[in-house]
Amino acid sequence: MKQPIKRHPALQPWSRDHHHGLLLSWKIKKGFSLGIIPERIKKYTDWFWESQLIPHFDTEERYLFPILGSDNHLVQQAIDEHRQLKALFEKEDAVSETLSKIERLLNDHIRFEERVLFQAIQEVANPEEIKLLETVHGETEDCETWEDAFWK
Ligand SMILES: [Fe+2]
Ligand SMILES: [Fe+2]
Repeated sequence: MKQPIKRHPALQPWSRDHHHGLLLSWKIKKGFSLGIIPERIKKYTDWFWESQLIPHFDTEERYLFPILGSDNHLVQQAIDEHRQLKALFEKEDAVSETLSKIERLLNDHIRFEERVLFQAIQEVANPEEIKLLETVHGETEDCETWEDAFWK
């Protein structure tokens, strides 16, 4: 059996966000399978983007990725995926198709960060960088407070 990935405690707040991000992908899929109209799902993904993912991407780019540096190809891949996800979350037409793309790309992006990128970051981070990470994540809004739980 594969060993579960051991996450450095300083990175755990971002890993907790990832758990919620994977849940978002699951909720989109569940919504589709229940025949929920895409616009109703989009209201939730719009809120999730603003309240959860913008601050998450921002702190990753400001504090985590510089540990490997901007020339690192893993960092470049992650930034490119952030850009693609931003474009998808901000797209206002072709709602159903766009939600499907978000569902897949967000899922793949998070798995890449958890399995590859975060692993690389925690291997090279020095004590000062770790110390900084412990202070910068901040509180995120609870994503279970959304009233229209269309996935249930
Ligand atoms: Fe990311
Ligand atoms: Fe992330």
